[in-house]
Amino acid sequence: MASTTMTAAKKPTYLGLLNAISLAETEAGVYLRAWADATCDEELACTLRLVAARETSHGVLFCRMLSELGYELREKADPKSAERIARYANPKISDLDKLPKQGSGEEKDPFGEIERAMADGAYDPVTCNMLSWYICEERDSGAKLREAYAKVRAKAGVSVKSNGNGKAMTGGNGHSGPSEDAKAIMACMTEGFARLEKSIQKAMARA
Ligand SMILES: [Fe+2]
Repeated sequence: MASTTMTAAKKPTYLGLLNAISLAETEAGVYLRAWADATCDEELACTLRLVAARETSHGVLFCRMLSELGYELREKADPKSAERIARYANPKISDLDKLPKQGSGEEKDPFGEIERAMADGAYDPVTCNMLSWYICEERDSGAKLREAYAKVRAKAGVSVKSNGNGKAMTGGNGHSGPSEDAKAIMACMTEGFARLEKSIQKAMARA
């Protein structure tokens, strides 16, 4: 992405990204918390609560960023949201069945493109700083969730294969790639903001 010179009158090119992050994180905070409240696995619940609190916080902070830049969050109706939350909140559906579906194997880091744009000076300093902090937390949350999901699979007796790089790959429903909200954000970067809504809905539908 080319370097962008900020002027007071110029609309930032990254409003769609900030909007996408806020919406995806808020949504993830809700369904992860619903899952935490539904599971009998206290170890899993502990991780889900931690990550859900982070996601909710990210949703609020990126909404605030938009506001500080002089814009408002644009809500996007997600017709599958209620169904998704009900599924995660249902204690009769097993934790194993709630794990993310298997992805396409090795997936690239969803934040690489954002970090390249940060290095190119594409963001104003405050947004850049917040993105850096956010990416750090997202990677840590991803690692925590992968560990928690691996334990759920182990307790359920699902086999876990190694991909040869020391990373676990599941033989069941799960995957070791980025979280669904991270994938939605990655799609936003690569597909452009015009297709953002579709990308988020598709990613969330796979959750
Ligand atoms: Fe997230």
